Amino acid sequence: MDRDGERIEITISSRFENIELVQVIAEHLCENAGLDEDGSHWIGMAVREAVANAIKHGNKLDVRKKVNATFHLQDHELEIKISDEGAGFDPAAIGDPLNPQNLMKTSGRGIFYMKTFMDQVRYSFARRRNIPGDEEESREGNGCRELEDLEGEENESHPAYR
Ligand SMILES: Nc1ncnc2c1ncn2[C@@H]1O[C@H](COP(=O)(O)OP(=O)(O)OP(=O)(O)O)[C@@H](O)[C@H]1O
Ligand SMILES: [Mg+2]
Repeated sequence: MDRDGERIEITISSRFENIELVQVIAEHLCENAGLDEDGSHWIGMAVREAVANAIKHGNKLDVRKKVNATFHLQDHELEIKISDEGAGFDPAAIGDPLNPQNLMKTSGRGIFYMKTFMDQVRYSFARRRNIPGDEEESREGNGCRELEDLEGEENESHPAYR
């Protein structure tokens, strides 16, 4: 992968129309890194769901609050981090959309899609408020979702709750 080590970062305000920007960056980056069109499309969809959640559930559509996305290509892995300025949530409490009682619901599928499209989905929750450039530190009161696509690995679908 000739773009190995490349890191791209974008920060958007919490407007739904900005979702597409992040999705398109994800898709282009994947294609440039050698993924096929289908794979790039599905990763773009996972990113779309993560950014939509960050805007809607995390930042509660407050345009003053930011969503940050970083894309990091290294050692044949693409790590994507999406973070918001919200209070975080408990992933263990999220219902399974395949559960018969949830089948008729029209929402509650974003995280399921992310886990389906990516090799790994992880969450981290911070101890301090969001500080630009410091998003990998653990911070209180700050929700952060992390998506990773690990080339050549099985789809693990095990969100590790850190
Ligand atoms: N970034 C986040 N901050 C706070 N809560 C979140 C965040 N992401 C997800 N959640 C919580 O997890 C739930 C499930 O998210 P998921 O994306 O699966 O479904 P949804 O957003 O409710 O509906 P859909 O994505 O199908 O339109 C959300 O309803 C919300 O309560
Ligand atoms: Mg969602």
